[in-house]
Amino acid sequence: MIKSKITGVGYYVPKKTVTNDDLSKVLTTNNDWIIERTGVQERRYADVEGGEKNYEMAVKASEDAIAMAGMTAEDIDLIVYATLSSEYVFPGSGVLLQRSMGFRNIAAIDVRAQCSGFVYGISIADQFIKTGMYKNVLVVGSEIHSTGLDFSDHGRHITVIFGDGAGAAVLTAYEGESGILSTHLHSQGQFAEELACIDPGFSKKERFTPDMVEPGGGFFPVMNGQLVFKNAVVRFSEVINEALSHNNMTAKDIDMLIPHQANLRISQFIQQKFGLRDDQVHNTIQKYGNTTAASIPITLCEAYKEGKIKDGDIVCLAAFGSGFTWASALIRW
Ligand code: UT7
Repeated sequence: MIKSKITGVGYYVPKKTVTNDDLSKVLTTNNDWIIERTGVQERRYADVEGGEKNYEMAVKASEDAIAMAGMTAEDIDLIVYATLSSEYVFPGSGVLLQRSMGFRNIAAIDVRAQCSGFVYGISIADQFIKTGMYKNVLVVGSEIHSTGLDFSDHGRHITVIFGDGAGAAVLTAYEGESGILSTHLHSQGQFAEELACIDPGFSKKERFTPDMVEPGGGFFPVMNGQLVFKNAVVRFSEVINEALSHNNMTAKDIDMLIPHQANLRISQFIQQKFGLRDDQVHNTIQKYGNTTAASIPITLCEAYKEGKIKDGDIVCLAAFGSGFTWASALIRW
């Protein structure tokens, strides 16, 4: 049976590092609060003044992933691009990536599943490969949050968490033991507004009003942090268990868990719940913050490059975020 094997991974983070002390100069916050509540020590911000763009970060991550797979852009049959921070309202960032790297006129699908976007993307890629329609699919997660954050006290609980970056993976048709074993995707729109950026929506008579750009206005993300946190720990656990039971496995079979980097406390809770050692869970939120759709591919790639993932390992990707959406992918590396 055809499976999808991850044959390449890559990531890119912008050069500019913003520490918690840097944020304390523009926000009423402090290093101790941020470390204790989130685990974030620093994050990267894109050089938007210098013209750095979401899709350009994706290009850098994709170049590495495609090179590791031993391919060129011409070998890729489909782009799946997960982001909540695209350059334009439309078209999506997928086509901007398509025109920038020597791809053929292949399809570019933009995925809007926020923190679960990369795992949703892996699942979409996997379906196209398993049916035989495509051989090589590039899945990307890329975000520029730094230009969309509320730097007033109103948004400080959100602003301190998020950072910019991009990650990518190439999935290739493969017949053998390795590959994606299963993916499980969920959503619950009941909580859509609990973690959201509301404006500029198309369903309003006036799409733009001056108050939207005021602190607390609809241009900025809102988050009911404690409700999101409580749902996250439940849904992460559920969707990991769903992946394990679907494959007749238990937590003892997991060699490496790559959780979406929402909050270090959430990752640590999940690690404890599944009885995993420190070397079986990889986290990057300390250095890069929460990069939404990019967090899993960045963390997966770093774990791989540090030699923490070996052939045959069982790797579990798990995500939860705005929507709410949540998802997992179980992989034999
Ligand atoms: O990736 C998508 C999924 N996202 C998540 O999973 C995030 C889940 N939620 C969280 O991680 C946490 O809720 C946060 C880290 C966002 C916030 O932590 P919290 O422990 O829920 O804090 P809180 O918002 O309830 O605020 C507690 C206190 C408040 O002060 P009072 O009312 O107790 O005096 C806040 O005003 O901390 C204050 N506070 C801050 N203080 C310093 C909120 N933000 C900050 C800040 N610096 N940045």
